[in-house]
Amino acid sequence: MCGIVGYIGQREVVPVLISGLESLAYRGYDSAGVVVVRDGELEAVKAEGKLERLVETLKGESLVGTYGLGHTRWATHGEPSERNAHPVMDSKGRLALIHNGIIENFLPLKKRLIDEGWEFTSDTDTEVVANLISSHLKGDLRAATQQAMAELEGMYAFAAVSTVSGQAEIVAARKGPPLVIGLGDDEFFLASDPAAVLAYTKRVLFLENMDLCRLTDAGPEIWDENGEPVERPAVRLTWDPIQAEKGGFKHFMLKEIHEQSQAIQDTFAGRVDFELNTVGFDDFALTPEEATQIQRVQILACGTSWHSGLVGKFMIEELARIPVEVDYGSEYRYRDPVVGEGVLAIGISQSGETADTLSAMEAASDRGAKLLAICNVPGSQATRVSDGVIYTHAGPEIGVASTKAFTTQLTALYLFALYLRQQRGMAIESELLSVLAGLPHAVAEIMESEAELEEMARRYSRLEDFLYLGRGINYPIALEGALKLKEISYSHAEGYPAGEMKHGPIALIDEDFPVVAIATGSRVFDKVCSNMQEVKARDGVVIAVTDRPAEELAEIADEVIQVPRSSDLLQPVVNVIPLQLFAYFVAVRRGADVDQPRNLAKSVTVE
Ligand code: M6R
Repeated sequence: MCGIVGYIGQREVVPVLISGLESLAYRGYDSAGVVVVRDGELEAVKAEGKLERLVETLKGESLVGTYGLGHTRWATHGEPSERNAHPVMDSKGRLALIHNGIIENFLPLKKRLIDEGWEFTSDTDTEVVANLISSHLKGDLRAATQQAMAELEGMYAFAAVSTVSGQAEIVAARKGPPLVIGLGDDEFFLASDPAAVLAYTKRVLFLENMDLCRLTDAGPEIWDENGEPVERPAVRLTWDPIQAEKGGFKHFMLKEIHEQSQAIQDTFAGRVDFELNTVGFDDFALTPEEATQIQRVQILACGTSWHSGLVGKFMIEELARIPVEVDYGSEYRYRDPVVGEGVLAIGISQSGETADTLSAMEAASDRGAKLLAICNVPGSQATRVSDGVIYTHAGPEIGVASTKAFTTQLTALYLFALYLRQQRGMAIESELLSVLAGLPHAVAEIMESEAELEEMARRYSRLEDFLYLGRGINYPIALEGALKLKEISYSHAEGYPAGEMKHGPIALIDEDFPVVAIATGSRVFDKVCSNMQEVKARDGVVIAVTDRPAEELAEIADEVIQVPRSSDLLQPVVNVIPLQLFAYFVAVRRGADVDQPRNLAKSVTVE
């Protein structure tokens, strides 16, 4: 999704804007631009394509100044092109605006503005906002923005600079997509994501929905949706800027795959007492009575986070004996779910800003559910709207394909399931914790097979279709393995419950349609072996992920990926790692842009 950055202070602004945009590049974009205000003039440079092209174009310009805006655009209205790139100017050249989101009533507004004499040169909905604010602008940019906001429908975050107000200021507003203010010493930053300010400051504040902010070199002033001045609390980020760099790896995704052992450990550290066999959270608690009152859990999430919800269902049902439903945020929000008292809704989101998940959480809360967020980004919207938060301690995840966020979500869900078990009066047996303690080591062990997986990926990278099979708690891992492959390598991949193969997909099997089968654990191991046999009997190719000795599968698998044995409930964390690596190496082999796959955005902040 589009990325917004802004800076006001003493530094030369363009390098600050470019470094912010580089940090936001992972969100996905197809054009970029910056604007600087100097001597009462707006000077903008834009370029289609990658940031390198913008940087190259900037070399031929002399943009200097100490405040301005930068933007990466992910096209919604209008093709990716320099003409549609942001910043967008109003037709009188009085202000420049950058925008993330969708203005739903842009067509009637555009028609009205054209009738009033405003001109349009792009296909964007953004230009409507620029002209609309300008139509109200009598000298006070904040007042004009407030008037415009009253007329805008949709979800948006935007920021504007103007030559009319006669002073150095940035005005920004949000309704939906996030905006964060970085608080430096006599310098202030604006961004869609804290990662963009991390190189300069760890003190940030998050704007709330419908907030309007005026940023000058004296700091931020904020007004709420009623136009009342408000203070928003400053938060100190615990992330290290170094975590947001590649650190010698070719891609963020590979670095993040490698970070998983540590991230899992960081997620359970301090929350488990291995001597007393108890689980607790510093910043979240349920009394035994509250835990007992939970009659149903509804998990709401999208994409990879939805897959972790599917695994969480097995964990919570088995350990806490509470029924769990798992919904896509985008589906839940448009039906009329049965909620009511006794329902705990859990929103799972790496970013905490996914529009569909947030809307579903809101819908659950409106119908009487208690809300818990499992989230990676401190202070994000999901954490602010929830009654409680369990943070995953994955650190910043930059690669668009989620890896360490997924395995830390599974760790957090396991902890939460154990916690519910304990608070509902059931003992946590020591084996449930010892297997957790061994998880980081098991994950690290798989990295030793990296070269083998790279070689295997080379053998399969030319193929266009893959089927991933898993059963029980590993069915979501089949879905996740398939999602990883398709989103970064653009090969078609489908995840399927192994037992369902014979009800349809078996018709597809041939020597060019490899089947990745997850054959671990004890409960359904034999069943999955039978499914592999069914594939072999039809000249299919089987790649098996197993915790058994390779010889056991020699007859029915063409390739065997061995993984360490964990418990049935934690085995998915181990099993997904080779599937992440396999997808990564296939994508690299196919020359795909692993960290920024085409058409994809890291945080999907619009519907
Ligand atoms: O930030 P969230 O966890 O809410 O994001 C949800 C999905 O957009 C995300 O998991 C997406 O599916 C990833 N690209 C998967 O790798």
